[in-house]
Amino acid sequence: MSSLSLKPTSEFTIPFLADLMTRGFEGYFVPVQITEAILLTMLRRDGVDLTASRVLLKDNEAVGVALVARRGWTSRLAAMGIVSTARNGGTGTWAMEQLIQEARSRGEKEMVLEVIEQNTAGVKLYEKVGFTKIRRLVGYKIENPQTESAHDLEEIDIRDLARQVTYHGMKDLPWQLSGTTIMQHTPPSRAFRLNDAYCLISNPEVTDVSISSVLVKARSRGAGLSGVLMRALFARFPNKVWHVSPIFPEEMSVIFEQVGMTRETLSQWQMALKL
Ligand SMILES: CC(C)(COP(=O)(O)OP(=O)(O)OC[C@H]1O[C@@H](n2cnc3c(N)ncnc32)[C@H](O)[C@@H]1OP(=O)(O)O)[C@@H](O)C(=O)NCCC(=O)NCCS
Repeated sequence: MSSLSLKPTSEFTIPFLADLMTRGFEGYFVPVQITEAILLTMLRRDGVDLTASRVLLKDNEAVGVALVARRGWTSRLAAMGIVSTARNGGTGTWAMEQLIQEARSRGEKEMVLEVIEQNTAGVKLYEKVGFTKIRRLVGYKIENPQTESAHDLEEIDIRDLARQVTYHGMKDLPWQLSGTTIMQHTPPSRAFRLNDAYCLISNPEVTDVSISSVLVKARSRGAGLSGVLMRALFARFPNKVWHVSPIFPEEMSVIFEQVGMTRETLSQWQMALKL
């Protein structure tokens, strides 16, 4: 019988953790190559607590990693990857059961996560340990949209956008769309405003640009203002491939469809467990 144990990730180096994560996500739905820089950005942006995150050991050999982010009474399983040779033998289930117990003993009230809908093992595992689906999260894409717009976008501080999202956004937004995460974005990402509509984009100087936040203040909703904003964005930065990663609530799909974007095949489930 092999023995399983957990150790705080804070006992390991960043290069070691980055390599273990890359191996844990081998054969994933999208290629995953975690460099030290990517890992450090993820830790800072998402609020991952390296003292609560765990390296998973099997007979004293590191076979997986679970990153746990924390905010107030809530924690988020930010990533869990197990090396391919240690998968499908109950390791993931055992690790999740321990992580849930640890969250309870820290006095937390809820644990959240997102999992790719097409990831059968992941969805099955999280449902088995008690997580339930909150909503589907979807992504979009459009290449080189041809748009003309007479509207001028005002560039604003990302912190101002983050305040608006915290105040006007949905209470149970996925972690990565929350005002708290938006607040951690920095240049070369940029935020823009058009009347009561706001957005955050990744560096628009390169070909592939990601839209990381879209918000319309409650009083101006239902008038197509987000479409006006996005068309102005497409006109200001022509010849780009625009991406919306699958972290947006399906309820928001109309705002991307109205500007001609196409839905990505990969979608996610936003899930939660009351502790
Ligand atoms: C997802 C992952 C963490 C699960 O860990 P694991 O050790 O393989 O999980 P378990 O062995 O405890 O299996 C959990 C359930 O999924 C099922 N399962 C495992 N692999 C499967 C597969 N390839 N296809 C279908 N079901 C699968 C198991 O049968 C089990 O269900 P059961 O208890 O009803 O039999 C692991 O497979 C992994 O690291 N995958 C790559 C990275 C990833 O997808 N991470 C999660 C993203 S959030």
